[in-house]
This record gives sequence, structure tokens and C-alpha cells, in this order.
Amino acid sequence: MIAVEINACSKINLCLEVLRRRTDGYHELATVFQAVTLADRVRVAPREEAGISLQVLGETVPDGRDNLAWRAVEAYQQMRHWPEGAAITLVKNVPVGAGLGGGSSDAAAVMQGLAELDPQPPDAHELAAAMAALGSDVPFFLTHGTAFGRSRGDELVGLADLPACWIVLTRPEFSVSTREAYELLEPQDFSDGGRAHQMADAIDSGAEIEEIAELVANAFSRPLTERWPVFSELRRALREAGALAAEITGSGSALFGLFGAAEPAEAARAQMAAQGRWARVVQPVPVDTELVEGVE
Ligand code: C5P
Repeated sequence: MIAVEINACSKINLCLEVLRRRTDGYHELATVFQAVTLADRVRVAPREEAGISLQVLGETVPDGRDNLAWRAVEAYQQMRHWPEGAAITLVKNVPVGAGLGGGSSDAAAVMQGLAELDPQPPDAHELAAAMAALGSDVPFFLTHGTAFGRSRGDELVGLADLPACWIVLTRPEFSVSTREAYELLEPQDFSDGGRAHQMADAIDSGAEIEEIAELVANAFSRPLTERWPVFSELRRALREAGALAAEITGSGSALFGLFGAAEPAEAARAQMAAQGRWARVVQPVPVDTELVEGVE
């Protein structure tokens, strides 16, 4: 094998509670992550000569050290003293600054791709620790599927696959910086994590999608909507189109609408697109989906 190609899927947070601000500046979370089918395509090829090359196609993102995928190669090299160099190609489909985890997923794909090709790969624990050092959301993409995240969102427990559902993603024209979104939180936005735990239990006990939808929530919803009323318009548009629940994912700026059937989801997407909005219909990625492909 000379390279691997990976479908670096994106994620939504079906429930995101912020418990408190920690002394290290991060926030303690209780969140339910769900991997969804919108994905970047990441090609990873180790090289015997030194140097990293990064080619990005699609969305405008940095193609140097500012890109987390580049730093993922460096972190891997530090961990394993291998490879000498690497050529990375990213085909970007996931919008940036949207709360969909695109950059984190690319970084996880780079690390996973290198581990796949490494003659002496690290164990899963070491790999997950290196991923967590790159960013709070990165380790989720090693397991994907559905997972409960605590601490910074990097301590994960796998959950049962979600029942069949269709998810409409849309977003305003702007992106939101994660750091700035955290700064907008006030004590009233903090909660005890009970709802996220309740959702995790519901998913694990095979609850219907309607029951899971009732527990959808996001701590950033109040401050982001107060600052940008368009979030309230988009949430309402998704609900009026038949979404069982509609909420911001991560720290925004994307929102998701959860649908129990394909047709209304497609109609909602078409309606958003007709208004000039970015919109996609996606589905959950089950945990046993093979996302890595070898290139001979
Ligand atoms: O971990 P990551 O680099 O993705 O986090 C980006 C920023 O988001 C952090 O610098 C921090 O300001 C904020 N953050 C936080 N609590 C978390 C995750 C992120 O405060 N659990």
C-alpha cells in the first residue's frame, strides 16, 4: 500500500451541554456526537524524503501549518519518529467554522491514515491521546458512529447507532469562531448534563427518533441567537418544514433539522437552496462503517 484514502465524515452534536468553565480555560461538556455522511476526502501518502505537502481542493482553507491536517502529520512524526515526510490531499466538502468538525475530522483522518500505513502503529489509546492534543473534537472521528463525550468532549463512550433518520444541514453565510462562541456563554447557559445523559440512555435503549428529538439542545443557542437573529429564522424554517427538532451544531454556525422521513427532508433542503442557502441532506454514519481505503 502506498497511500490511503479516507472519507472524513462530519458530525453534529445532537445535544451539547456546557457544565462549567474550567481553570485551564476549557469548558466541561456533556455532549452526544453523531457522525454524518457529509465528508471530506483525505488522501495520505507517507514519503521517504523529509517535508510535508498539503494540497487542498474545494473550500478555501489554509494549505500550510495553519491547517490542522498539517499539524496532525507533525504530531504523528513526534509520536512515532516516522514518516520522514508526507503528501496530504484534502478534498473539502464540509464548510469551515460551521460546528461540523470538518478540520478535526481531516486531522483525525491524517493520523488514522498514517497509523494504517505505519509498520509499527501505535495502539488505539496512544493514537486517541495524540488526537486529543490536536483538538477537543478530534478523537471522536477515530470512533465515529454515535458517542457520548465528556470532559473537553474528548473522553468518549460509544452509543448504539441512531434509528433511521434524515438530517438537513444548513447555515448562515458567516462562520463562528469556537473560542468566541465560548466567550459568549453566561452562567445561565450552563446546565448539569442531565439532558445529554438522558439522550444517551434513550439512544442505547433503542428509543424512537421522536423521543430522541425531544432531547435535542445546545448551550450556544441562546447567546448565538441573541447576537445573530438569523439562527432563530433558520430554526423556525426547519421546524415549519417538518423537522422533529432543529438546533445549532457545536458552536455554530451550521444548524441541523432532524427528520423521520426522507421526503420532507429533501423538500426542506430544496426550499433552503431556493433561497440561496447552503443546504444538504445527510444521514447518520453507523459505527461499523469502513471509511479507510488502501491505495496499491
Ligand atoms: O480544543 P480546540 O482547539 O478545538 O478548542 C478551541 C477553543 O475552543 C479553545 O481554545 C477554547 O477556547 C474553546 N473550547 C472550550 N472548551 C472545550 C472545547 C473548546 O472552551 N471543551
